[in-house]
Amino acid sequence: MTQQALFIIFGGTGDLAYRKLYPSLFRLYEKGYLKDNFAVIGTARRPWTNDHYHEVVMNAIADDGHEADRTNSELVRKFASHFYYQSHNVNDTEHYVALRKLADKLDEKYELKGNRIYYLAMAPRFFGTIAAHLKSEKLITDHGFNRLIIEKPFGRDLKTAKELNDAISAAFSEDQIYRIDHYLGKEAIQSIAALRFGNQVIASLWNKEHIDNIQITLAESLGVEERAGYYETAGALRDMVQNHILQIISLLTMERPRAYTAGELRDRKVEALQNIKIYSEEEARQNFVRGQYGEDADQEQQAYRNEEGTDAQSQIETFVAGKLVTTNESLAGVPIYVRTGKRLAQKSTQINVVFKNVDQNIFKSVADADAKLLQNVLTLYIEPDQGYRFDLNVKNGNQSYGTMPIHLEYHKSAAEKAKVPEAYEKLIHDALDGNRTNFAHWHEVAQAWRIVDVIRQTWDSEEAEFPNYVSGTMGPQAANELLARDHRTWVYNP
Ligand code: BG6
Repeated sequence: MTQQALFIIFGGTGDLAYRKLYPSLFRLYEKGYLKDNFAVIGTARRPWTNDHYHEVVMNAIADDGHEADRTNSELVRKFASHFYYQSHNVNDTEHYVALRKLADKLDEKYELKGNRIYYLAMAPRFFGTIAAHLKSEKLITDHGFNRLIIEKPFGRDLKTAKELNDAISAAFSEDQIYRIDHYLGKEAIQSIAALRFGNQVIASLWNKEHIDNIQITLAESLGVEERAGYYETAGALRDMVQNHILQIISLLTMERPRAYTAGELRDRKVEALQNIKIYSEEEARQNFVRGQYGEDADQEQQAYRNEEGTDAQSQIETFVAGKLVTTNESLAGVPIYVRTGKRLAQKSTQINVVFKNVDQNIFKSVADADAKLLQNVLTLYIEPDQGYRFDLNVKNGNQSYGTMPIHLEYHKSAAEKAKVPEAYEKLIHDALDGNRTNFAHWHEVAQAWRIVDVIRQTWDSEEAEFPNYVSGTMGPQAANELLARDHRTWVYNP
């Protein structure tokens, strides 16, 4: 099914537009999902011409490309010809009038039926004023659909998130708002529901009787790169836990939706988040640890505090590990250990579901001294590897009856991975389709802030001793102690 729509991208000269939005729109065009009836207006302060804008869009596609010289191809040129640039000051009402005129003209030219997608690819402090002007200057059409796509951060805490949401909600209703969490666009994250609810074996074991603990690791090997300005105001807790990690937890702990629809999924996810225990400050102190990277062992990589744009005494955490628990009936009391950080040993996002051991080891009497039964672990590799691993115990292959661990593995091949649409491509496609299944609802965002705010407040009231981990390792020792205290260890330990 092809779609007709006008995209108005605020922040059209920015990094997100260049790296993600233009290539994703192109892939949708290549696949025929967007055809002749679409147009894009890019806006930002810079005074670009349409010709220059076309060059930028074509470069973005080439830079992203699996086909080296896409820039020259007729298809790319034709695609880029649908792009229009309008220099814009988001606080200036006159500029919205000009924008509306251009939008109306393009609507007619490309027969877009009044369908509009407003993509706010810029700092959230502008969201309110943009949304208000879109309404007051009548860019929002009264025929066709009007959808607002926004990027995180949705506030700094519950209070500011609520203010932001109120400002946007004055112009758009909840069902017109598409809050992007790009983790929800990842194939392997979307696959969690298939794994849990499409397999009787897994479905029947997914409870506190059988699961010992769940571990979620979002490890990055890169440091803060060029984003110190933003990161110094955020830190790993806001940057990764409030959104990506809590979204993953909601998918892992929610009860079974009656059907895989946006409404059902949202309700189950909201419930799941409401069931995550909100800590007191004392509990937050006991159950969460923070870290900041120092230089690496060879002193080749800089400490966070020496990176360009960071404060020499920065208290910002680049690492978080913690333990959360749900009170929902099926998983009540099962610890959920989470961990994320920059400059860790490897880039890997993975989930390890650790099952309880069998009640009785009947092989004890015959087994070799070292033939201990290991816990079954189901690992979900999210990225860069995509696949699954299941650890089991089998007979050892010797004359004596001992056991040994083996694992069953499935990994998507490079060719298979290349076929999977990238997260932004999927999410833009869904937004065009009006499918909100993989977007965050306000209630989810608000509840995630409630969970995280206490931890933030606790940390803000106490000075941290940073740096406390060596770049290229898996974070501070305290992250290991967190599990050791419960007589457990991290499954993923590169
Ligand atoms: C973003 C964070 O949301 O996710 C970044 O702002 C982080 O700091 C990124 O690097 C990680 O995403 P991915 O898809 O590379 O795991």
